[in-house]
Amino acid sequence: MILVVFLVCSLYLPWTRGEENSSSAHIVHQSPSALIKNHGSSVDQEINCSHSIANYDRMLWYKQDISRTLKLLGYLNLNFAYSEEYVKGKIRIQGDGRSYGNFSISGLKQEDSAVYFCAVLPHQATSLNSNAH
Ligand SMILES: *[C@@H]1O[C@H](CO)[C@@H](O)[C@H](O)[C@H]1NC(C)=O
Ligand SMILES: *[C@@H]1O[C@H](CO)[C@@H](O)[C@H](O)[C@H]1NC(C)=O
Ligand SMILES: *[C@@H]1O[C@H](CO)[C@@H](O)[C@H](O)[C@H]1NC(C)=O
Repeated sequence: MILVVFLVCSLYLPWTRGEENSSSAHIVHQSPSALIKNHGSSVDQEINCSHSIANYDRMLWYKQDISRTLKLLGYLNLNFAYSEEYVKGKIRIQGDGRSYGNFSISGLKQEDSAVYFCAVLPHQATSLNSNAH
């Protein structure tokens, strides 16, 4: 049987220089640290991310596959969820970028085995795709 293994880590991207300090790096929480799934099954709201940073209202989800490329999958802007075209129908992002988000993936294949990151950005931040490729 083929197993698809998910490792989940968190990535915090401070947008405004000088505003952050080392303790704020612990404000974003993501769980679980690893998820092991059977090929063909799905991840149903099982990858969580939460934060409590004032004025940060966007939550971005990235995938880092075996080639180590970081790809933007989609994001939450307040409670509006947006998925990149190439993963539409495959992934689902739910929640509210101001506090909490969860992540689902259907029809798991070997290529879905990856590290999934969540990141949060403040309200003013634009050009969400700038770091995605
Ligand atoms: C660091 O950030 C935390 C959380 O935002 C804040 O409570 C704390 O006062 C900050 N410390 C300094 C030295 O700026
Ligand atoms: C994800 O969050 C939900 C709601 O807080 C919780 O019930 C669930 O156990 C979490 N899942 C994991 C894998 O941490
Ligand atoms: C995932 O997020 C949605 C939207 O906030 C929420 O309704 C649902 O309960 C969450 N699921 C879990 C398992 O926390």
